[in-house]
Amino acid sequence: MEAMDVHSCARPDLIRVRHLELEFDLRFDRKILDGVVTLHFDATDQPELALDTRDLVIHSVENAAGFELGARDPILGTPLKIGLDKGCSWVRVHYSTSPGASGLQWLDAPQTAGKQHPFLYTQSQAIHARSWIPLQDTPAVRVTFRGRVRTPPGLYAVMAAERAGEHFRMERPVPSYLIAMAAGALEFRTLGERAGVFAEPALIDVAAREFADTEAMIRAVEEMYGPYRWGRYDLLVLPPSFPFGGMENPCLTFATPTILAGDKSLVALVAHELAHSWSGNLVTNATWSDFWLNEGFTVYLERRILEKVYGREREEMEAVLGRRELDREMSSLPESDRVLHLELRGRDPDDGCTLVPYEKGALLLRTIEREVGRNRFDAFLRGYFDHFAFQSITTSDFLEYLRRELPTRVPLEEWIFRPGVPAGAAEPESDAFRKVEEQSVCWEQGGSIQTNTWSTQLWLHFLRTLQMPDMARLDREFHLTESRNSEILFQWLLMAVRGVYEPAFPRMEEFLMTVGRRKFVKPLYSELMKTPEGQERARRIYARARPGYHPIAQTTLDAIVGSQP
Ligand code: BES
Ligand code: ZN
Repeated sequence: MEAMDVHSCARPDLIRVRHLELEFDLRFDRKILDGVVTLHFDATDQPELALDTRDLVIHSVENAAGFELGARDPILGTPLKIGLDKGCSWVRVHYSTSPGASGLQWLDAPQTAGKQHPFLYTQSQAIHARSWIPLQDTPAVRVTFRGRVRTPPGLYAVMAAERAGEHFRMERPVPSYLIAMAAGALEFRTLGERAGVFAEPALIDVAAREFADTEAMIRAVEEMYGPYRWGRYDLLVLPPSFPFGGMENPCLTFATPTILAGDKSLVALVAHELAHSWSGNLVTNATWSDFWLNEGFTVYLERRILEKVYGREREEMEAVLGRRELDREMSSLPESDRVLHLELRGRDPDDGCTLVPYEKGALLLRTIEREVGRNRFDAFLRGYFDHFAFQSITTSDFLEYLRRELPTRVPLEEWIFRPGVPAGAAEPESDAFRKVEEQSVCWEQGGSIQTNTWSTQLWLHFLRTLQMPDMARLDREFHLTESRNSEILFQWLLMAVRGVYEPAFPRMEEFLMTVGRRKFVKPLYSELMKTPEGQERARRIYARARPGYHPIAQTTLDAIVGSQP
């Protein structure tokens, strides 16, 4: 018996859609996508096909015995019920999106790097594909597809798929949350045999330098976990309003420009999205409660890639940073959100997106690795990716497989179903960080410290270990308000809000006006909202910045700052 996905009205147990033909016409003037989708399934005598939609206008359905839209649910959207004749094996839906579609961001030219052309990109995870395609929007269903995008002149369209002349083609079955498209003034640079990068012309050289190690990363994972099965691996650099760091769309990772630090110091994100080509895209969470199977495995793989490509010390630092952030975030979460397998009925799956599935998940795998040894664990993982390749699985599928293939003494039930980090976890450690901790003690006692050779990771750890930061002194000495590194700047701005360090506020405002990455903007607004003066500042900035944010970020921030007319 298959696990039910509470975030979809689809009934794949009755009819399973297997292939999509997609046609998109982009109307930038009205911020509307006109679409035609043909859904193919095995011939059926079922009377009805149920699809997920959100804010779609359905114009007509071909090869159907009528159609009907149900009641709109604020989280799930609106079911579309299509009547079927006996033996039916396809239907074709003609539809339009709404300007506020949750899975689309339409950018005006001024919001792009080049300022000459508009930009559009999609973000389907977790349940936003339904806002731009009517389909069975559950990760339990996998489809192949062909796509075609009509764009105005001057724009270049890409899809997370293989390019085949006028079309795009995805011949490996993927879940709906991995269907993706973008269009803008894009240029391409090759990075290696299988890898390349798309970006606006103003960013393309910087991006190509930053991502120069991509091919080495692909080879590193392949050595550990088997061949890369998706053909090409390209990256697409999006405008700064992209609400995530990265999104693992197959063949084409979408990435925030805020990782272009100039020194490759933030490429853990590339390792992460690349790792999803195994954990997530090949073996996929069947429901959003199993999200930790995607993200926990991916953070574990990400760190293994970093170790192989950049060495042990780098891996240790990233692991300690992650471990610390996990504790920090968990302390503010209700106990029910400190478990790996989340109960999400009645909730937006985007709410389950805390560090718990990421860092606690990775810590569990690290703990199993320590228990059985690296060689045995790597062999297990390789077998796991082969065994479940191109399938969507639940937490119990994983548990059953693990217990059969690799019995251990790790208390799995406790890790997965109980809150917090169990005793006996494989805690990461970093010698480099210990030295920084000594430096920070020295600094706080008024001494001067040598920071010339510090990496981004050392800076982050230094700033986070300061007990009572003297903001003016730090800024005088290290010019942190002027930092060009988004992670360091973000950490600094957070401290500036906490310590009411006014000289950094103009920079913070500029940051919040341009960057829409949720990981940065959510904590900054939340911190501002803690005091009356901060609230006023947050509301004033948000009123101006909100129109430039992605709908997903707007929803998150409306709940924190309050929506304005
Ligand atoms: N798949 C996620 C992004 C995501 C998760 C989008 C849930 C929508 C819902 C992606 O792989 C990811 O984890 N991105 C992280 C970066 C990563 C290095 C931790 C992010 O965006 O911060
Ligand atoms: Zn991820």
